[in-house]
This record gives sequence, C-alpha cells and structure tokens, in this order.
Amino acid sequence: MILVTGGAGFIGSNFVLDWLAQSAEPVLNLDLLTYAGNLGNLAALKNDARHVFVRGDIGDSALLARLLSEHRPRAIVHFAAESHVDRSIHGPAAFIQTNVVGTFALLEATRAYWSALPKNEQAAFRFLHISTDEVYGSLGNDDPAFSETTPYAPNSPYSASKASSDHWVRAYHHTYGLPTLTTNCSNNYGPRQFPEKLIPLMIVNALAGKPLPVYGDGQNVRDWLYVGDHCAAIRVVLEKGVAGEVYNIGGNAEMKNLDVVHTLCRVLTALRPGRDFASQITFVKDRPGHDRRYAINADKIRRKLGWQPVETFESGLTQTVRWYLDNETWLTNITSKAYQQWIDLQYAQQ
Ligand code: NAD
Ligand code: TYD
Repeated sequence: MILVTGGAGFIGSNFVLDWLAQSAEPVLNLDLLTYAGNLGNLAALKNDARHVFVRGDIGDSALLARLLSEHRPRAIVHFAAESHVDRSIHGPAAFIQTNVVGTFALLEATRAYWSALPKNEQAAFRFLHISTDEVYGSLGNDDPAFSETTPYAPNSPYSASKASSDHWVRAYHHTYGLPTLTTNCSNNYGPRQFPEKLIPLMIVNALAGKPLPVYGDGQNVRDWLYVGDHCAAIRVVLEKGVAGEVYNIGGNAEMKNLDVVHTLCRVLTALRPGRDFASQITFVKDRPGHDRRYAINADKIRRKLGWQPVETFESGLTQTVRWYLDNETWLTNITSKAYQQWIDLQYAQQ
C-alpha cells in the first residue's frame, strides 16, 4: 500500500481518486481536515475498502510511527501543506508548523521506519515530496523558464516554507540515503479546488454575479496545469523516478492573469449563454510581494520519464467549469462561515 498525506485536499483527493481508478493497491490517507481538506472530495470512495482514511496531523510523531508500523507502506506521497499564498501573508505561523515542522516530523518517522526495513524493501521504498515552482522566485519577461537547477529564491512565506521543506527532503537523501523524490509543479486547476485560489474563486464569484477581483494590473504570469495531468506525472515519477532526483512539472501554458480570467469568462458564457461575465472584472489592490512571472521548463520529466500534459488550457478549463456547474452541493458545503470570514478578511479593504 501507499501512504498519502493531505489526500482530502485539492490535488491529494484527485490523486487518490485517480490512483484507485487505475490500480488495485490500497491507499492510507492521512489528513488533518483543515479548512482546505474535505471528505466530500472522497465521497466516491465511501464503500471502497482500499481507501483507509485517518484524520491526523503530519506533525504527530506518535501517530506516524503507529501508522507506519501497522500499515507498512512501500511509498509515501506527501501533499499535506498549507498551500495558499494570501493566507501565508496574513498568518505565516501555520506555514512553518505544517510545511516545515510537519514535513520534518514525517521525514523522521519515515527514516525510523525505513531504516528497519529489509534491504530489498529499503531500496524499493520511495518518499515523494510534492512541491511548487514558487520556490524558484520570480522571473522577468525574457528570463528562461525554471529548470531543476535554478537557484532557490522564495519570496512569500508560503514559498519560503516549501523551499525549506524541499531542503529537508534533499538533506535526508544526501545524509541518510532515504530514497526521496521531489516534484516542483506549476499552478494547478481542476475539480475540487478550494475557492480561495484564482480559478475556482473566479468561477464562484462569476456565477454569483460578484466582482472578479484581479490583483494589480493583471499582468502577472503563471503556468497552468490541469490537475489530472499533475496526478499522471506524480504516478510516473513514483514508478520510474530516480531516487534523490528532482522533477519539474508544468503545463506548457504560460498566461497572464487577466487573460486567464477573460478565457474563463468565455468558457462560462459558452456553458451559461446570455451572460457577460467579463463585465464583472474589477482591478483590486495588488498582493504584497506579488511574484511577477513563473514558468516551468519540464524537459527533464519528458525526456527521462516520458511524461507530458494531455490537456490544453482551454480543454482543462472547460472540464473544470463543467465540474463546478455540476457540483453545486459540494460548493454549498465548502462555502461555510469560515470561508466567508476568509473572503471578508482578504477582499474587504480592496
Ligand atoms: P490544499 O490546501 O487543497 O490541501 C492541503 C491538504 O493538506 C488539506 O486536505 C489539508 O486538510 C491537509 N493538511 C493541512 N495541514 C495538515 C497537517 N498538518 N497534517 C495533515 N494534513 C494536513 O492543497 P493542494 O492545492 O492540494 O496542494 C497539495 C500540495 O501540492 C501542497 O504541498 C502544495 O504546496 C503543492 N502544490 C500545489 C499547487 C497548486 O497549484 N495547488 C501547485 C504546486 C504544488
Ligand atoms: P493563486 O491561485 O493564489 O496562486 P499563486 O499565488 O500560488 O500563483 O493566484 C494565481 C494568480 O492570480 C496570482 O498571480 C495572484 C492572482 N490572483 C488574483 O488576481 N485575484 C485573486 O482573487 C486571487 C486569489 C489570485
């Protein structure tokens, strides 16, 4: 079996669903169910004995030791994190706690478990750490895209905490020989993303007739990857990746935020004819320290492991919008009081 952390969140739940759709191998899913984790994401697995869910903290060493010795996973895929840049600006402490201290606790528990495995199981074991392209900092318009050797230059509390966790993972491979893999991925979008991130927030606001808040001049650039493509890349890295290596994952879809929002409005109008969603676009105060451009050079994973994205931005976005339109109950459950408090805090003065 494999242990997945953060498997009730956006990417983690998509990964668990895809994994169990394609493989008979069971998943032990450890998730604290913070505001970002939602068991509704895994409702399809309710009666599936291959999915074992445990609510718990990756920082809980005793729990980790017990789960590892009871379930004896052959691999760990580590998604659990605080993941939203704007929240990291309002409250960075949780990012250190989960992303740095939590990852450290997970590495320590894994090292103890892995060290006691028979030699052949030690060699086959993998610890796959899911990280972000944001650790590389911000690019100018003409700079080459981030590669695996781009120096780290994190600019937000979120990216600083992820950079730190990447370094810990690297050190555990280098010092103890733990067979780690790290992936640094660009911005994901798709079903089950919490509506605090750009694309789902814009979908929710558009449908509700609310303003579509574009930060600053809307010219910041991100590379966008459909979550299903990301999950496929993770499976390939887990299966064929070389221990100790880093793989960048991207969607070949660099876009300015304003263009993303206009494309989204077009897709929405195609699916809900008669409404001019673009008229809801509003420019609001910029994010402090807002990184200007991210871009990913994903040549290594394509050349070495044969992975490349299947979806274009238009095809992935259309599937995403359809999913949100078809899953109103999911959205109603998600947009709770806590969600409203976040939206009030983040967008009030803007
Ligand atoms: P998310 O915020 O949607 O989900 C995070 C999950 O982790 C939630 O289910 C939450 O309950 C759980 N969690 C948080 N703290 C925990 C703790 N202490 N112990 C156990 N579980 C805990 O995040 P996501 O967008 O799915 O991102 C998953 C991973 O991928 C993160 O590591 C993130 O840094 C990375 N990543 C995300 C993106 C993106 O665009 N979303 C891009 C690149 C990399
Ligand atoms: P986000 O989805 O928060 O991802 P990240 O900051 O990790 O890249 O934001 C994506 C881009 O969209 C980023 O440049 C900030 C911008 N943005 C807005 O313009 N308005 C919003 O309401 C949000 C949430 C983001």
